Amino acid sequence: MKRVLTYGTYDLLHYGHIRLLKRARELGDYLIVAISTDEFNEIKKKKAYHDYETRKEMLEAIRYVDLVIPEKNWEQKKNDVKTYKVDVVCMGSDWEGDEHFESLRKHCDVVYLDRTQGVSTSQIKKDLNLVNYKKNVNQIPEEKQQKK
Ligand code: CTP
Repeated sequence: MKRVLTYGTYDLLHYGHIRLLKRARELGDYLIVAISTDEFNEIKKKKAYHDYETRKEMLEAIRYVDLVIPEKNWEQKKNDVKTYKVDVVCMGSDWEGDEHFESLRKHCDVVYLDRTQGVSTSQIKKDLNLVNYKKNVNQIPEEKQQKK
């Protein structure tokens, strides 16, 4: 079985993400997606709209994704490749040549896939004026939360 691993935040899931995941899965038979934890996003100075558990739940529902694991720091990649017996690490072309991935070539294949043009989480946030907004369900008064 050929195992593929990719990294990302995957906030406000969009078709650029879906296309990347579809092509990543086609590189093998099993796709693992490591998504940044909320703590790691803070270190990277990245603000996600959805928290880790929500982003994980959404990715797990995608048919191309077999397993979602946390990305907690920059240094874990080599260990992930070993632990999950990864054959290919794959990223969008915005990461091409980045040392965090290039250094993995000693341990597995490293593949960069073309990014889908015209869409990104930051662009969606800009368009919707959400740049500094972090979703917090607790901000919604209980009586206004939808009940089933
Ligand atoms: N990706 C892609 N095409 C896009 C946007 C993202 O192929 N239009 C890929 C990235 O290259 C990465 C993965 O999707 O491999 C997850 O990217 P992520 O950084 O979570 O999404 P972005 O939309 O790029 O987020 P941001 O704008 O915050 O950087």
